[in-house]
Amino acid sequence: MPHTPLRWTRKHLLTLEALSADELRFVLDTADSFKEVSTRSVKKVPALRGRVVVNCFFEDSTRTRTSFALAAQRLSADLIDFSEKGSSISKGETLIDTARNIEAMGVDIIVIRHPAAGAADLLARTVNCSVVNAGDGAHEHPTQGLLDLYTIRERFGKIEGLKVAIVGDIVNSRVARSNLWALTKMGAEVILVGPPTLLSKSFEALGARVHHNFDEVIGEVDVINMLRVQFERIKTSQFPTVREFTRLFGLNQERFARCKKNVFVMHPGPMNRGIEISSTIADGPQSGILKQVTNGLAVRMAVLYLVTHSG
Ligand code: NCD
Repeated sequence: MPHTPLRWTRKHLLTLEALSADELRFVLDTADSFKEVSTRSVKKVPALRGRVVVNCFFEDSTRTRTSFALAAQRLSADLIDFSEKGSSISKGETLIDTARNIEAMGVDIIVIRHPAAGAADLLARTVNCSVVNAGDGAHEHPTQGLLDLYTIRERFGKIEGLKVAIVGDIVNSRVARSNLWALTKMGAEVILVGPPTLLSKSFEALGARVHHNFDEVIGEVDVINMLRVQFERIKTSQFPTVREFTRLFGLNQERFARCKKNVFVMHPGPMNRGIEISSTIADGPQSGILKQVTNGLAVRMAVLYLVTHSG
C-alpha cells in the first residue's frame, strides 16, 4: 500500500466518523513503523520524552487501559493513571473540573473513557491539551476501530473490496460504530447482523447492509467481527434470552463450517465465551483476537504520537 503524503493536523482523536480515508491510512502507516519498535530488545523510543499522558477511565477496562499505558511508556512519556474510584469525582467533582485540575499540572494528553456519549468531545472543547477518546458510551471507540482496521489490512494486505460482518449487539456498541465508519471509508462492505431489537434498519443510512439472519450471510464474508453482548447497557426488553441469542447469533462450530475457507474471526474483547463465540473458534487458527491486542499497542503509540505532533 503506498504511503500517503499527508500532514497530520488533528490535535485530538475523538471519532473515526471525522477522519478521511487518507487520514485513516496515515494512522495505519504510522502504526506500522511503531510496530517494529515492539520487536526490538529495547522496546522504547524517545518520541514523547518529557510529555505527560493521563489515563482517565470512568468505566471498567483491561485491554484498552493497559494498552494506552504501555503505548505511552514505550514512547518514553510520563504516565498518570487516574480512575474514578478514590478520586474527587466520588466527592461530586464534575468531569470538567477534574479535567481542568489535571491539565493544570501540565498534562499533554488526556485519554478518556466515559459511559456518556460525547464526553471526550466535551473535554476537547474545555481543555487545551490533546484528548483521545478511549470509548464514550455507545458512541465511538476510535482506537479499537483503527486496530481492527490495521489487523484486517495486515491479514489481507488490503481493506478495499472485503466483506466484513459485524455481529451481535450493534445498537449498544461503540466498536461497531467506529468500525463501520472506518471500513466503509476504506472501501470495505460492512454487513451488520443482529436481532431487530439490537439492530435497526436506520444503520443502512450510515452505509451498511443490515441483516437479521446470520446464516444467510455467513458464507459470503471475509471477516467476522463478533461483538460482546453489552449486558451493562442492554435493556431487558431488547433481549429474548441468552440461549436464544446464542442459538441465532453465536459463532459456533456448526456455523463456522459454513464460512469461507479463509474467513478471519475477530472480537474486541472481553469475550463472553459460549455466548457470542465458542472457545474452539476464539482460540482457533483463524482467530485474530490476540493479534488485535498486539496491534492495539502499535496503533495507540501512533495515535499518541500524532496528536502531539499535529500541525
Ligand atoms: C470494547 C469496549 O470497551 O468498548 N472493549 C475494548 O475496548 N477492548 C468492547 C466491549 O466492551 O465489548
